Amino acid sequence: MDIVFVGIGYVGLVSSVMMSYLGHNVTCIDTDILKIEQLNAGILPIYEPNLAEYFKQAIACGRLRFVSNYSEIAKVQVVFITVGTPPLPSGNADTSFVLSAFNNIINQLEKDSIIIIKSTVPPGTCRDIVSRLHEKNKQCHVVSNPEFLREGCAVEDFLSPDRIVIGVESDYAKLMLEEIYRPLFIRNILCIWTDLSTSELIKYASNAFLATKIAFINEMANLCEMIDTNVESLSIGMSSDRRIGAGFLKAGPGFGGTCFPKDIAALSQYAKSYGLDCLVLNAVIKSNSLRYSDMVKKICNIMKMDIAGLTFAVLGLTFKAGTDDIRHSPAVEIIRLLQAQAAIVMAYDPQVSDAQLQRLCASDSSITIELKNSAIEICDGADALIITTEWPEFKMLDFDIIYNKLRAPIIIDLRNLLDPTLIKQKGFRYYGIGAYYGD
Ligand code: UDX
Repeated sequence: MDIVFVGIGYVGLVSSVMMSYLGHNVTCIDTDILKIEQLNAGILPIYEPNLAEYFKQAIACGRLRFVSNYSEIAKVQVVFITVGTPPLPSGNADTSFVLSAFNNIINQLEKDSIIIIKSTVPPGTCRDIVSRLHEKNKQCHVVSNPEFLREGCAVEDFLSPDRIVIGVESDYAKLMLEEIYRPLFIRNILCIWTDLSTSELIKYASNAFLATKIAFINEMANLCEMIDTNVESLSIGMSSDRRIGAGFLKAGPGFGGTCFPKDIAALSQYAKSYGLDCLVLNAVIKSNSLRYSDMVKKICNIMKMDIAGLTFAVLGLTFKAGTDDIRHSPAVEIIRLLQAQAAIVMAYDPQVSDAQLQRLCASDSSITIELKNSAIEICDGADALIITTEWPEFKMLDFDIIYNKLRAPIIIDLRNLLDPTLIKQKGFRYYGIGAYYGD
């Protein structure tokens, strides 16, 4: 089937490449000309494990092409809209990019074209597009098909999703979506068929609930530190209850990324527009916003002194392991707060480039991170080592060398990545989260 994707960010790129892999002929359009040039040159603009192989295969068999001008697209049978919906200052989702994508593609739509909204949009957005089509006498079909791709494992999440959610309101559209996803359906992947608005809400509510789980376990981590219990054991004890469910109960420095913070705020604001004050959502938003400063308070308490002038070696800048994305990263927020107290930060991340960091620092003068080429290098003369992202390679570091590099043998592990016993045996003062580690 011929499919067009509008908007080639993390979601659009993974989804379009994988739709090619399913056997469809895919044309991607994005107004970022540099990005399109990179893609046509065979360069992936993002780091996503395993994507490169599928990308190369799709290009090689001619089922994937990239354009930057709508005039290069003839008629459209099926179009996925995968543009971003960033937060407005109010916290509401900005759907203007979705609407401009729709307006840009509308001339290529024919009778019975299918417009599939994969972008995360507030309930009612698809119905609004249905109305706009009626106003323009376009007899097309609108479908809601939210994605549940996690950065760092998006290919796996595409091929083996827990479920596919599809909001349709015509039998024809249902048949077309069954054809599109047939290679997954024949592998018995669960599909939830529902209406447009419920499909849109499933996405928001799922992300908000996952964020709630994380905020909950982070609050329990604070309690565990007070009463000498262990949040890792607590998490295992809780998640082994099927009603609670495994996953997303790992204590850390707070949730980040471009989805959870944005989506839970958008859902709260959306409910507020109907006069509903979502106390739970608002509590999660507040709890997570305090988490970053809680981590800095913890660091200050451990150092037992004014941190002005101290140098911290920070391992990890991305918002989680497995991605190169530093947008809304807890690590960056914590560094910002450390530097606000005149601390000095040296950082290393295996997937973050100097160029990315320069762009970040250029856009935000409150951050001046010096990136080093190795985890060992940043420890040279540092007053403490802080782990902010759970990159597996950090577990394999030579801590005997690190011990001699650091000015003081202090490790503050905000991801509980390391084995406290092993680290303490090497002579370090080790501080994780959600457990009492002495002094
Ligand atoms: C999320 C949703 O998981 C995905 O379904 C949706 O499509 C997009 O948003 P993503 O933002 O890529 O995916 O990251 P995710 O793996 O969900 O992690 C989000 C944040 O929560 C990260 O900062 C991560 O470190 C943190 N996290 C996650 C925890 O602190 N503890 C956990 O147990 C899980």
